[in-house]
Amino acid sequence: MKHKIGVIVGSLREASFSKRFAKNLIELASDEFELEIVPIGDLPLFNEDFDGDKAPEAYNEFRSKMKEKQGFIFVTPEYNRSMPGCLKNAMDVGSRPKGQSIWAGKPGMVISLSQGNMSGFGANHHLRQVLVNLNVPTMPQPEIYLAKVQEMVDAEGNITNPKTTELLQKGLDSYANWFKKLS
Ligand code: FNR
Repeated sequence: MKHKIGVIVGSLREASFSKRFAKNLIELASDEFELEIVPIGDLPLFNEDFDGDKAPEAYNEFRSKMKEKQGFIFVTPEYNRSMPGCLKNAMDVGSRPKGQSIWAGKPGMVISLSQGNMSGFGANHHLRQVLVNLNVPTMPQPEIYLAKVQEMVDAEGNITNPKTTELLQKGLDSYANWFKKLS
């Protein structure tokens, strides 16, 4: 049976570069893995009052889909030197109710990007900090930072720079090893 990996994209916009790279990851993954983008855009802002039996339906759907996953790949841009709020919200939703986190113990991998030179470094490391707390053993190397992404992928989502494909492939291969070592 294939290993089920949830892909979480930290951008909601239609023409998102993060979405385009996430879709390429699905194509590049080996046959042993089944990657699926799990949407986070419909999750209401987390509110502790929703703990217990008052969870919105979107929380229930997200949590049950994520419970099936055995690992996670995050593809995120940077907003104001951190991860976008939609991504942090999804991390918080998945971490509750207390003791029922959907994240714990499942191997993770982080890819960050930007249209400028910074490659989402701040978002990458803020996310890694959150993943430590959520007990997601996150692949240390290779780190994957994509800068000037508009020069790497076209509007249809095709990667136009072979070095980018190579880097993503290397990342996925390393993640496969990381996943197997920990599972
Ligand atoms: C940004 N952007 C941005 N870029 C960056 O490198 N560092 C940053 O701190 C920020 N901050 C920021 C804040 C806000 C509110 C927006 C809307 C944008 C640019 C942003 O990362 C860029 O537009 C990415 O292409 C967005 O990712 P997607 O939607 O293409 O996946």
